[in-house]
Amino acid sequence: MIYSTIAKYERSTVLCRTHTVGTVEHLLHPLEHELVSTSAIRRRQSFALGRLTAKNALLALGQPVDAILRTPAGAPVWPEATRGSISHCDGLAVALVSTDAAITGVGIDVEVCRPLPPHVKAAMAARDFEYDELIGTPDLHRLPFTAREAAFKALPPAAQRRESVLDMDVSYQTLNEWSGEFRVRSGSLRSAKHVGRWERIGESHLMAWILVADS
Ligand SMILES: CC(C)(COP(=O)(O)OP(=O)(O)OC[C@H]1O[C@@H](n2cnc3c(N)ncnc32)[C@H](O)[C@@H]1OP(=O)(O)O)[C@@H](O)C(=O)NCCC(=O)NCCS
Repeated sequence: MIYSTIAKYERSTVLCRTHTVGTVEHLLHPLEHELVSTSAIRRRQSFALGRLTAKNALLALGQPVDAILRTPAGAPVWPEATRGSISHCDGLAVALVSTDAAITGVGIDVEVCRPLPPHVKAAMAARDFEYDELIGTPDLHRLPFTAREAAFKALPPAAQRRESVLDMDVSYQTLNEWSGEFRVRSGSLRSAKHVGRWERIGESHLMAWILVADS
């Protein structure tokens, strides 16, 4: 069973979310299949769900593609003039895709709500602003990690080689129990116009995404 939702954000930006029970590996294009042919079954299934989700997002923007290949760094290769990002875990995949010419970077991350290893949490929380209010909510323990992974994916390749998620300073604003915003206040995103959002998906997952625009 496949359950997919599409949300359209301002102008030409689509967020697609897909849950599945069972595999969608058979839906991979042969060239995509080659990319994971030697991977473990769990990885192949996750990869396939990510590709399906991204293709659904592209379709919703009127940009159907047969295959989404990948760069040497592992990032998906998007159609000309399109930015996007994929994340997946345990039967859930999300993809954010934009054809808005003003958007220069897109990143998304989804995580199961489970505690971060204490040393990782401490390293990130120490660099965060306005984090204390959220830290008491167990479902949000992974927020600093999820937000940074989304931000990292939105960086251009050269910046990815220079900047680490552990060097990012992040600030958060809670909108309600289920969602909020974040801003990256260091590195190349510091001066870039960007919007970061986080949302809980049910009680089990946490998602963060970021859109970076021309300053
Ligand atoms: C690349 C990275 C962000 C992937 O995140 P993840 O939480 O492991 O996995 P997710 O499911 O969220 O995302 C995986 C997807 O990210 C995308 N991705 C992989 N590398 C990417 C990159 N360099 N840029 C953008 N997107 C990338 C791919 O679509 C991948 O899925 P696919 O292989 O099925 O296509 C992560 O592994 C990483 O390296 N982060 C930290 C980088 C860092 O700062 N390191 C230094 C100190 S720890």
